[in-house]
Amino acid sequence: MITKISKKNPKIIIALDYSNKKKAMKLINNIDPNVYALKIGIIMFYKFGKIFIKKLQKLGFNIFLDLKFHDIPNTVFKAIQSISELNVWMISVHICGGLEMLKSAKLALNYHSCNNKTLLMGVTTLTSLDISDTADIGINMSISNYILKLLKLAQTCSLDGIICPGKFVLKIKKHLGKNLKILTPGIRLESKLNDDQKNIITPNLAKEYKINYIVIGRAITSLKSPIKELEKIQRELNSF
Ligand code: C5P
Repeated sequence: MITKISKKNPKIIIALDYSNKKKAMKLINNIDPNVYALKIGIIMFYKFGKIFIKKLQKLGFNIFLDLKFHDIPNTVFKAIQSISELNVWMISVHICGGLEMLKSAKLALNYHSCNNKTLLMGVTTLTSLDISDTADIGINMSISNYILKLLKLAQTCSLDGIICPGKFVLKIKKHLGKNLKILTPGIRLESKLNDDQKNIITPNLAKEYKINYIVIGRAITSLKSPIKELEKIQRELNSF
C-alpha cells in the first residue's frame, strides 16, 4: 500500500541518528507529529529499514529520508524507485553528483504519478566541512561561491530546495528565487563548536535568516530532558 504524503509542513526536523530503536521511540512517543518531522539517515535506515519508516508514518510523522544519493544517474534513478513505495515527505541527493544525476533523481520521483510530491533536496556542502576541508577535495574557491554554483544546478534541475550550512545562507539568499527552500542542519543551542560540525548556527539565527527548515540532532537527542528543550526552541521559533 502506498502511503499518502501528509500536507503538514513542520519547520523543525529531528535527526534520529540513534543505533538503538528503543531510545529513538522514547523521544518519538513524546513529540507531536503536527509540530515536528523526523529525519532518518543512513544509521537507522541501514539498521531498521523500510518497516521502521512505515511505523513512524503510521504515527503521523512526515519523514525526511536523508540517504544523500550520489552515484551514476542509472543507479540513483533505480535507488529512488526502490524507496518510492514509502512516499516520504523529503529525500536528499548530493548536488555535486552533477546535472544528469539530478535529472534522473527528479525523473525517478515523477515516474509514479502518485509519488510526485516528495520534496527533492540537494546537499550543497556538508556542515562538517570548512574551507581547508573543501580545498583538500579540490574545491578551489570560497565555500559560498561553490554553493552558488551548486545552487544554479539545483535550479536548472527544478529541485525543491537546497541543504545549506547556516553560515552561508545570507550570501546566497538573493540568488534563491521563489521556488527553492532552504534546509539547514548543524543547529546548536550555543554558537560554540564542540563536535564534528564546523558550520553551526543557533535556532534564533535560523529564524533571523528565515530558513525554511532546520534539522536538529544531537543538540536535542543527547540531552537528559530533550522534550523541554525542544518545546523551548519551538516557542522561540513560533513566528518561524
Ligand atoms: O547531530 P547533528 O545536529 O549534528 O545532526 C545533523 C544531521 O544532519 C545529521 O544526521 C547529518 O547526517 C545531517 N546533515 C548534515 N549536513 C548536511 C546534510 C545533512 O549534518 N549538509
